[in-house]
Amino acid sequence: MANSQETPSSPRFSTQEVTVVFFLGGPGSGKGTQSANLERDYGFVHLSAGDLLRAEQVREGSQYGELIRNYIREGKIVPMEITVALLSNAMADSLAATPPPAGTKARFLIDGFPRKLDQAVFFEDTVCPSELVLFLDCPEEVMESRLLKRGETSGRDDDNAESIRKRFRTFVDTSMPVVDAFQAQNKVVSVKATGSVDDVYAEIKSGIQARGLDPR
Ligand code: ADP
Ligand code: C5P
Ligand code: MG
Repeated sequence: MANSQETPSSPRFSTQEVTVVFFLGGPGSGKGTQSANLERDYGFVHLSAGDLLRAEQVREGSQYGELIRNYIREGKIVPMEITVALLSNAMADSLAATPPPAGTKARFLIDGFPRKLDQAVFFEDTVCPSELVLFLDCPEEVMESRLLKRGETSGRDDDNAESIRKRFRTFVDTSMPVVDAFQAQNKVVSVKATGSVDDVYAEIKSGIQARGLDPR
């Protein structure tokens, strides 16, 4: 591009300053639970796309509240511009409020994103390329029973049998192709998620250690 008149758009954050790890897995596979462990031991800033969307849904003055509510109840993927803007701004806010220790890169664990191929491409082009993808591999029966149990106390509109069924459909049809695409780039650390929280975490640690990510 050296002689081109065009200026190629570059991502908002450079991989020299931040490390992005995507955390994928079906609904109820345990991403939020394990994110707390990774935040504690690896210095990750945990950003859950679902949490950011739920916060935007109830934010006073948001023009997207009703749209997000409907998409979430139907288990559908919210248009990516909304989700990517929320994530990108949350990263910027975090870097401004809590810069990483001197000489280290900030680490972001992006939970539940990208859930669709277009989101993956758009995020990596405009926000930051990912370093690694952590994937929790969990059968639907296990995820279903976890979600129904979580639904007893979560207050979430989508932790009910009908929404769960729709979320599983979306996961298989739309989100697994994202995992497969990253797999083809050899970026995925896949962990069986059926064991206890501690067992799953132990496997996550050894998987990411093997990719050069050390505790901090
Ligand atoms: P996700 O963020 O992937 O949807 P969560 O971390 O919210 O999943 O976990 C879903 C539910 O399952 C929660 O109620 C959580 O406490 C529970 N859970 C998570 N991991 C395990 C596990 N390894 N064994 C049993 N229950 C788990
Ligand atoms: O990850 P979580 O289970 O919290 O996501 C809840 C819902 O938020 C999803 O079922 C989907 O409707 C929406 N979502 C989305 N795009 C994402 C993440 C979540 O549309 N990347
Ligand atoms: Mg979650």
